[in-house]
Amino acid sequence: MAKKAILDLDIGVDDTMALMEALENPELDVIGVTTVFGNVPQATSERNALDLTEMLGHPEVKVYPGAKHNLVSEEVFEAPPAIWEIHGKNGLGEVVIPKSDRVAEDIEAADFLAQAIDEYGDDLTIIATGPLTNLALLEQKYPGKLKEAGNVTIMGGAVGVQGNVSPAAEANIGNDPEAAKIVLEESGAPITLVGLDVTMRVMLNRDKVNEWRKLGEIGEKLADEVNYYIDFYEKSTPGLGGCSLHDPLAVAVAANPELVTTVPLDVVVDTEGEMRGRTIGNVKTLRSSENPINVAMLVDAEKFEKQLNDDIQNIIKEAEAK
Ligand code: RIB
Ligand code: CA
Repeated sequence: MAKKAILDLDIGVDDTMALMEALENPELDVIGVTTVFGNVPQATSERNALDLTEMLGHPEVKVYPGAKHNLVSEEVFEAPPAIWEIHGKNGLGEVVIPKSDRVAEDIEAADFLAQAIDEYGDDLTIIATGPLTNLALLEQKYPGKLKEAGNVTIMGGAVGVQGNVSPAAEANIGNDPEAAKIVLEESGAPITLVGLDVTMRVMLNRDKVNEWRKLGEIGEKLADEVNYYIDFYEKSTPGLGGCSLHDPLAVAVAANPELVTTVPLDVVVDTEGEMRGRTIGNVKTLRSSENPINVAMLVDAEKFEKQLNDDIQNIIKEAEAK
């Protein structure tokens, strides 16, 4: 039976692909999308979640408002121009998609997550591909709740490699290290961490993306969106020919854990100085049997890349036919 799944997204080009993988993967039954600031302001992530679910033929998926800024800030997050270059100011690579008439639910992400954990418990998988603020707010409001979920799969961190927003920090952790500390160090939740260690090992190239154009207007829009993201990768790493696949890998791992090899570690998060945002295994507890976080270190790249491309093509075909 498909696992009930909640996606916590800062949409975002690779979050868009994560949403497509989740909606198409037969192992997952998406019961809601919670939204958070990150690649874009929270309000934009919410708008994108409503519009994308509708365009992809899934208007039944409800969308919930979440954090507008990190735990230590009091100001609504606005994405800096450096992020527009990666995801576009609208988070969709400046591609305009049809606007849904639907609006977000009148219930905050943390409350929805708590209700869903109460309802589904072990059968619920939470997949977070943005800053961990919504999950930390859940823990602050309902202490101990997150560990009652079946699994929490997080795109975040860089345990054995450098970060991507500083030598130490990966973007999702770097955007809210205090939240990451609560979730990774204190929650006790059954967490799988899908960080840059594996997401930089998987790629999507421009030729494959351009194949989506043959599928129709929705395929054209999604190809334009992902090509914008590939443009950024090619500027920063000339000759790469494609983009990394951070968020969709996290979704695929939540659905098909055999795609990765994990190492159990007691992951700690630095919140001070130059190391702010670093995620690293605690050497003092290496010999302990209680290393709570399963950190993905290897991935079957060929299998995942084929699965993702097939699933994206299939959801586009289904949406075009509706
Ligand atoms: O570091 C990669 C992560 O940062 C992904 O979730 C991407 O969407 C960006 O937010
Ligand atoms: Ca993301």
